[in-house]
Amino acid sequence: MRLIAWGAPALVAASVLATSPVHAAGDAAAGKKIFARCQACHDLAADKNKLGPSLNGVIGRKAGSLPSFEAKYSDAMKQAGAGGLVWDEANIAAYLKAPKEKVPGNKMAFPGLKEDADIQNVIAYIEEASK
Ligand code: HEC
Repeated sequence: MRLIAWGAPALVAASVLATSPVHAAGDAAAGKKIFARCQACHDLAADKNKLGPSLNGVIGRKAGSLPSFEAKYSDAMKQAGAGGLVWDEANIAAYLKAPKEKVPGNKMAFPGLKEDADIQNVIAYIEEASK
């Protein structure tokens, strides 16, 4: 457990998210069920793009940078990547929680996942399925 500076609960929650460990703490088997909500638009096979880009290997990838999806990304997503946004676990978690806030103007038509556990689990599944 890390020492967290005293502060408003929202700030504490944000810092916990921002300092989440490098290795997914989630449960990949549970995450597979959550991924059913992503599957209409995302596949995990490399370069198999649907309405959204393949999520194979997305963890650690620069935002908006999959070459085979280049023509379809929004400008907002490409600019976020050009501005330095990389999908590490903390950034992907923040995006899945509130897609429109993390990357304003991006075109993923998904409201976000409410539960932090669901987010951690789906990240673990994406990581597992990308191996
Ligand atoms: C209704 C379709 C749809 C659903 C459902 C959806 N996405 Fe997306 N997603 C997209 C689109 C379209 C983009 C590209 C957005 C852009 O370019 O602005 C995207 C982009 C992303 C990216 C950034 C990829 C990159 O290469 O930069 C991640 C990560 C992502 N989605 C994860 C998820 C996960 C995980 C779920 C399920 C919890 C999910 N998405 C559900 C359509 C969807």
